[in-house]
Amino acid sequence: MGERFDTLAAKDAAFVMPTYTRQPILFVEGRGMRLYDDEGREYLDFVSGIGAVNLGHAHPAVTEAVCQQASRLVHVSNLYYVEQRAELAEELSALLGGGWKAFFCNSGAEACEGAIKLARRWGTAHKGPDATYIITAERSFHGRTLAALAATGQPSKQEAFAPLPTGFTHVPVNDFAALEAQLGRTVCAVMLEVIQGEGGVYPCDLEYLKQVRRLCDERGALLIFDEVQTGFWRTGETPFAHQALGVRPDVVALAKALANGLPAGAVMANGTVAEAFAPGDHGSTFGGGPVICAAARATIAALRDEDLGARCARDGAHLRSGLEQLARETGAISEVRGRGLMLAAHFNAPIAAGLVAAGLERGLVLNNIGTDIMRFLPPLVCGKAEIDTLLHVLSELIEDRDGAS
Ligand SMILES: Cc1ncc(COP(=O)(O)O)c(C=O)c1O
Repeated sequence: MGERFDTLAAKDAAFVMPTYTRQPILFVEGRGMRLYDDEGREYLDFVSGIGAVNLGHAHPAVTEAVCQQASRLVHVSNLYYVEQRAELAEELSALLGGGWKAFFCNSGAEACEGAIKLARRWGTAHKGPDATYIITAERSFHGRTLAALAATGQPSKQEAFAPLPTGFTHVPVNDFAALEAQLGRTVCAVMLEVIQGEGGVYPCDLEYLKQVRRLCDERGALLIFDEVQTGFWRTGETPFAHQALGVRPDVVALAKALANGLPAGAVMANGTVAEAFAPGDHGSTFGGGPVICAAARATIAALRDEDLGARCARDGAHLRSGLEQLARETGAISEVRGRGLMLAAHFNAPIAAGLVAAGLERGLVLNNIGTDIMRFLPPLVCGKAEIDTLLHVLSELIEDRDGAS
């Protein structure tokens, strides 16, 4: 590690709150799916800033859009009309199939907070003053702000921050009977990730989601999909994961890849559901600012023009079959899960963190969830050759471990 790294790491320890355990690396540049550290070493990025840089690093169209807009106007707030905001909302509505309205914010947690507030407003207006409950899934992740954390189905992340906002019920995912038993008159919404991301890449079953949709219709509850991680062609041919399954939500939370790594989020609401918010109900100083919206519009245009959904489906299938082969050859992987380029290898021993550290030494940027899951979220520009490099190095690293133990 270089001197520059040592100085920065010491400063980080002295002045930045220790909420993250960082990998010992200083990235200073990126292009496509390649990252470069302060000593000029090249890495293949299979994390994309946790699924945020779907177009790859330093995409020229996004850089150009940001620079152009920033040279004209950066910020005036939501008190005024600005260029880019309404156009982006129209484009997002079209991506979702038409008939949607946007509330813009800055992150995934904020998008989930906004969706929760919208659902409560809708529930009290349409079902009655006590229709404020939201059902979410065990093992889900919706963000770190207090209401998003309360919605999150992971007690280990919640316990230190009691008291959390009330009004959330957690049920096991893919267990329709459990949901049916909870979906009473006081429930305004069900909120689900189509594929649970931070929980370990666990997809919802198609049949389950269809049944949930039907039950929400029958009992008058909104269906919210948190597509913060699954959005923007991450799971393959369709812009959003739910579209491939043909299950229609009422509200969608978006962030991460929306502006290819710049902080952006959106709550999308369909039809009259959007009317539940009135002036003064919700807000954000920065949300929907012209620079971020310009970046998002350039991101969406490039994702579409470069046909990255099709590439994601094709390369995702290649990565999946490679991981499945690795599972057969090494016996170290018990399950491969996910869709498109949102995949996980579930190891049958707690080796994931060790493999991530060893991978970095070999020029691979990898990510583990807990001790036994490795998650793959490369930029969608990731190609077959890069995937083959990953698989080759991973197989060697697993073999080395076997030899060492
Ligand atoms: C599905 C989902 N929802 C919400 C969030 C929170 O997003 P953010 O970290 O931008 O607040 C995440 C982050 O990983 C996520 O994966």
